[in-house]
Amino acid sequence: MKTYKIAVIPGDGIGKEVVPAAIEVLDTVAKLDGGFQFEWTYFPWGCDYYLEHGEMMPEDGIETLKKYDQIFLGAVGMPELVPDHISLWGLLIKIRRELKQSINVRPAKLLQGLQSPLRDPQNFDITVVRENSEGEYSDSGGRIHQGANEIAIQNAIFTRKGTERAMRYAFELAKNSRQHVTSATKSNGLTYSMPFWDEIFDEVKKDYPDIDTAVNHIDALAAFFVMKPHAFDVIVASNLFGDILTDLGGAIMGSIGIAPAANLNIEREYPSMFEPVHGSAPDIAGQGVANPIGQIWTGKMMLDFLGHQQAGIKVLNAIEATLASGVKTRDLGGTANLEEVKNAILKNL
Ligand code: NAI
Ligand code: MG
Repeated sequence: MKTYKIAVIPGDGIGKEVVPAAIEVLDTVAKLDGGFQFEWTYFPWGCDYYLEHGEMMPEDGIETLKKYDQIFLGAVGMPELVPDHISLWGLLIKIRRELKQSINVRPAKLLQGLQSPLRDPQNFDITVVRENSEGEYSDSGGRIHQGANEIAIQNAIFTRKGTERAMRYAFELAKNSRQHVTSATKSNGLTYSMPFWDEIFDEVKKDYPDIDTAVNHIDALAAFFVMKPHAFDVIVASNLFGDILTDLGGAIMGSIGIAPAANLNIEREYPSMFEPVHGSAPDIAGQGVANPIGQIWTGKMMLDFLGHQQAGIKVLNAIEATLASGVKTRDLGGTANLEEVKNAILKNL
């Protein structure tokens, strides 16, 4: 039997509540499958660790993580005691960068039993592939002449390697989806980076003759997410465009408490990191009322990446059956607590 060694970082706030729930679901689906199992190793890193040790994780933390197959993370942040830039850069961003997790994937799907803020949407099921290591979010630039003559320059950096990597990954995903890739561009306004992006898209698509493609400017694409989200399958976007589009994708699903995400090292040289979109939700932490679905669906993305798509489908079906039966946490307008939602998902599994 295949055993996956997973590094678990529950983190802070509701991370400590939703991660154990998701692990119970993943262990259950593994048992039902019979072909694989998980070996979970917990790391107490995060803001509590920072308050005790003065750092978010130990100095050799990254080296430690490299020994695991994947990383399963809850959320970090304790804004009243630790400034967010410390918690974010000391753990999350450090892991994403040093383990070269250059692709960020976030689905946006209309779930059965869940109210989308869109009025009467048709069924949609979108996967956004966001370039996660360069583009508009680069460290290149500077500021000079403080005061009235101040100038700020922020360079966007697009490499052939990074751009092509994101696009190829999108095409590979589309093979197992509905054979369609949309490129998010803005070559009418950005006259160097986006024409480059378009050229590479044209090159890459030649290697995938069975996949249909479309090219949309990001502003139009944002409007289409509201008007006709059902028209999309896989979308590939730069770092900034993907960031904005995936928040919109989360919004049209209905709640931040259900939205999953993955930071992938697609070369599989280092572990990838699976973490929900939401944060540590200090306002509801410790009450047992957090929605565990975002973390559980994130676990489903880890199953997919490990090659257990059938097990992943079972998890998503159990989530949808639970929502459809009306067992929902408060963020979705229900009255159930975390434990009740988790138990309903286990039962539906
Ligand atoms: P947040 O996502 O923690 O909370 C925003 C709102 O959504 C809150 O009202 C919260 O109660 C609700 N919410 C979030 N997840 C929920 C869930 N699973 N079930 C029910 N309701 C849920 O974002 P916020 O408040 O801006 O940030 C809080 C802390 O989390 C900060 O320190 C921030 O830096 C950190 N953060 C960490 C992230 C991560 O670890 N990946 C991502 C986003 C924020
Ligand atoms: Mg964002």
